[in-house]
Amino acid sequence: MSVSSILTKDVSFAAELIRQGLLVAFPTETVYGLGADATNSAAVAGIFEAKRRPAFDPLIVHLPNSAAAAQLVLEFPPAAGLLAERFWPGPLTLVLPKKPLISDLVTAGLPGVGIRVPCHPVALRLLNEAACPIAAPSANPFGKISPTTAQHVVDGLGGRIDAVLDGGPCSVGLESTVVSFMHDAPLLLRHGGLPLEMIEDAIGPIHVATSNPANDDAAQSSPGMLSRHYAPGIPLRLRAITENAVPCHGLRCGLLTVDEARCGDGFVRVHSVGSTSDLRTCAANFFASLRSLDSAGLDVIIAHRFPDHGLGVALNDRLERASRNDLPTIG
Ligand code: TXA
Ligand code: MG
Repeated sequence: MSVSSILTKDVSFAAELIRQGLLVAFPTETVYGLGADATNSAAVAGIFEAKRRPAFDPLIVHLPNSAAAAQLVLEFPPAAGLLAERFWPGPLTLVLPKKPLISDLVTAGLPGVGIRVPCHPVALRLLNEAACPIAAPSANPFGKISPTTAQHVVDGLGGRIDAVLDGGPCSVGLESTVVSFMHDAPLLLRHGGLPLEMIEDAIGPIHVATSNPANDDAAQSSPGMLSRHYAPGIPLRLRAITENAVPCHGLRCGLLTVDEARCGDGFVRVHSVGSTSDLRTCAANFFASLRSLDSAGLDVIIAHRFPDHGLGVALNDRLERASRNDLPTIG
């Protein structure tokens, strides 16, 4: 099968492949996911194999609505219910105590399962037609940049999966925000497409898990906290938004920046993801720009940080992880 032939727009066909236990990448509003029937252990194992993902990193389970999500968990605490009501379908994953019907492979042996109702018409049609919960991590090789177009998925996983359902570019462009309800108080495990301010507006202040780059212990409660993640293949260096970015002497440098920031001459490529007054557009362009710089034959990427509020927090989180290139990759 040629790699391009795995691209399809036929949702019913894709749903049939999922039902048969095959691997189908599909669009969501955040990033493309690599989906398989969450109740089929062999299919779920295929996801880990295709991504080269370590088995300790659990998968998010996608459902078409809150009622279906509630079927998978032992309890739905009131604060979690409030978030689901306000933000689903949307870029929010809730980690809740799982029922035994969810296999330990999906949750990597953890007692909680991450569940999400995506806000994308193609994803919702796929979930309804497949009529099973769909386990799906981001559809990229483990540790690499998340895909925001069907072509990105083909580029990264083309020979290893059965189909890519093409639903155009993702509108949010950053993975979902992950909030755990496995402890006494809600805990934010990953910044993402739903800003923390909006969550706190709904349920009050919550704790935020911190990851220590020198020590990946945080990864044990949330493997998405792995210090090096979302990484391009070349080094990435961060600059304050107020700093005039200049190329490194003697190196082919690319710049990932915003409209307002200043930069010197000599960059081989410059990508602005948009204005800081419109962080939604910045987020939607972010991974595609990072990917394009990564494949431009450069020695290093210099990146301006984003303002530390709203979606800027998740964008800075991804930049910081991408900049930890000198640490060993896990998996
Ligand atoms: O937007 C998204 O979340 C995308 C789309 C496809 O839905 N998915 C995604 O999946 O980003 P992934 O596997 O790349 O990242 C999911 C992260 C995991 O690494 C882990 O940190 C956290 O979510 N997670 C998932 N299930 C969990 C669980 N049972 N307990 C704790 N953390 C969990
Ligand atoms: Mg991922």
